[in-house]
Amino acid sequence: MRTRLTLIALLATTLLPAKDIFVSTPQTTLLLKAEEGKPLHVSYYGERISDAEQVYRAFSLWNEAYPAFGTSDTFVPALSVRHADGNMSTELVYQSDTEVKEANSTLYTVTMKDKLYDFYVDVCYRAYQNADVIEAWSVIRNGEKKPVTLLKYASAFLPVRQGDVWVSHEHGDWGAEAEVSEQPLMPGIFEVHDVTGTKNAYKNRPNIMLSLDGKPKENSGRTIGAVLCWSGNFRITIDTNDKKVHHLLAGIDDTNSQYTLAKGESFTTPELALAYSDEGMGGVSRSYHRWARLNDKVHNGTGLRKTLLNSWEGVYLNITEEGMFKMMDGVKEVGAELFVMDDGWFGGKYKRSVDDCALGDWVTDRDKLPNGVPALEKACTERGLKWGIWIEPEMTNTKSELYEKHPDWVVCHPSREPRPGRGGTQLCLDMSNPEVQDFVFGVVDNIMKETPNTYYIKWDDNYQINNFGSHYLTADKQSHLYVDFHLGLVKTLKRVREKYPNLVIQCCASGGGRVNYGLMPYFDEFWVSDNTDAKQRLFIQWGTSMYFPVNAMAQHVSASPNHQTGRRIPLKFRFDVAMSGRLGMEMKPSDLSAEEMKFAQGAFKLYKETIRPLVQLGDQYRIISPYEGKGFASQLFANEQKTKAVFFAYRFETAVNFPRPRFYFAGLNPDAKYRLNQVNANGRRDHWEGATMTGKFLMQQGVEINLNGEYDSCVILLEQV
Ligand code: DGJ
Repeated sequence: MRTRLTLIALLATTLLPAKDIFVSTPQTTLLLKAEEGKPLHVSYYGERISDAEQVYRAFSLWNEAYPAFGTSDTFVPALSVRHADGNMSTELVYQSDTEVKEANSTLYTVTMKDKLYDFYVDVCYRAYQNADVIEAWSVIRNGEKKPVTLLKYASAFLPVRQGDVWVSHEHGDWGAEAEVSEQPLMPGIFEVHDVTGTKNAYKNRPNIMLSLDGKPKENSGRTIGAVLCWSGNFRITIDTNDKKVHHLLAGIDDTNSQYTLAKGESFTTPELALAYSDEGMGGVSRSYHRWARLNDKVHNGTGLRKTLLNSWEGVYLNITEEGMFKMMDGVKEVGAELFVMDDGWFGGKYKRSVDDCALGDWVTDRDKLPNGVPALEKACTERGLKWGIWIEPEMTNTKSELYEKHPDWVVCHPSREPRPGRGGTQLCLDMSNPEVQDFVFGVVDNIMKETPNTYYIKWDDNYQINNFGSHYLTADKQSHLYVDFHLGLVKTLKRVREKYPNLVIQCCASGGGRVNYGLMPYFDEFWVSDNTDAKQRLFIQWGTSMYFPVNAMAQHVSASPNHQTGRRIPLKFRFDVAMSGRLGMEMKPSDLSAEEMKFAQGAFKLYKETIRPLVQLGDQYRIISPYEGKGFASQLFANEQKTKAVFFAYRFETAVNFPRPRFYFAGLNPDAKYRLNQVNANGRRDHWEGATMTGKFLMQQGVEINLNGEYDSCVILLEQV
């Protein structure tokens, strides 16, 4: 009987043909091969194809789509599990698959099962039809009788085999975020990871690009992007063997993060968003920008962002009612649309006049603001402005009433004294605890109840998980903390979004510490960096825009000399740099001279009327990188029809007898004729002013721009005639 059954099973397996699964976007394909009882294979990712045979005949690349430890190969695995009986090996084979059409995408789910155990992995791919991005993730399900422990649980795996592959990624620190670095991939392991627990975009960002045709280029060369949509600890690994086959794995960092699944429980990994383009890094960036905008991977992706003034660099913690009114007058005068009061407005028993207290005590400091926040909200409305306010809701200080009441709410093992951060007193609240989640939701909810016309919230985070441990999680689940903190944070943000879908929220973490696609679906924008020096911003913004659309990038004009670097930079240059994203100001408007005020008024008007729709919703073409070492940089934003574009050129170094640089354009319609006009010109004129040129000429021949030394810049509006 047994032999007969085995025979039937065997026949069934052999009779079932192998199935090609084309996970395709308009321009790209990821090819899977599924065969019952066998591992799922991934054999191609690149330009869109519809003929699998070509791939199978051309290449010998056969890799499991989700390699598990103990039975596949000895590369770094995507999955490593301790089964209920202690067995450390897993052997996944294809069981079934589904294809579901969604509004803007197609979802492919391939179910695999361990050969021995009731243990399943659904490998999921969502192929967007409105952007060339494929999201890949896995759902790990335990059907075994007892708990299993996930030791490693990557989101996805991708093999790459080409001649000369380079990897680029962004890393940095406070005030120096998103520095671009590039290197060829050599045999061995290349890894980027973050273990700060809360700010995963400071040191290393959870994104990389692979340039398949040698050194990365902006607008040519086949390029793959990989972006992990997660706000916690992560690890991106490229394991390269001596034959130069690269295994790309990305997911939650497994260090100190073993995750236990009870019988019947499942774990869904964060998505890894893949993009492929033969238009270089710029092509991959544009795919991510489009994906983010059209699919709300940034909250309200296609919405135009308002211009604003934020109080931080103007007054820091020295908030007063009179000072706020004065700033509002300045916002109105300069022509911005929204005023945001930053840190320093709150505190009951402990007052936030120094940054060492009161986080968690979200009551107005009546000494500073005798008429409360509603009076400020009203004053804004009376001036025709929108109102915004700063909070840091996931944090507390040991000097706070909240901590005195709930010392068990902070991230720290119950047995230990917490070691605080900022101000010598700051601690993280434990977002894995549902009571804390309610509290954090309540911070926003209470603000909205007290001042219902609040238009904008700046949500900050200035500490990391230094004190590992949770009062809330049980002893056997302490290792869930790094993951559950973020699941709790996202749950809270979803709740905020359900109730306040139209509230504009900025994601800030001591600057750009939380610039990631794990959180951006709940945030409209992020604070690019606490460094507002226009020269350094050119670099920071350049790196940041590799993955994020500029309508999400908060870019503020601040005082000169700059508060972070001490550098003096002309106002026009500062505006020209800030205008290439969501324009704002970060200074006292009353510090502007009459002449500067006039220039700033013109700049805001121009931005709101002409530049905003082009940069915030257009396609970005980065052209000359500031990293090229030439001392200048340029970029262009074009509308979808390519009938209108705005071009920015910056010079940030001086040299004697410097040849007049020629700037090439990109992203234009070669056959269309464009009229060139300088805007935000501040009196400067060039010989090509008002001229008409074809897109082809502008892209192939370029124009000379007479940039006169350090901190000269030029903005050109191109309109099809
Ligand atoms: C850090 C942020 O990055 C700053 O913009 C400012 O909001 C301060 N926190 C306030 O404490």
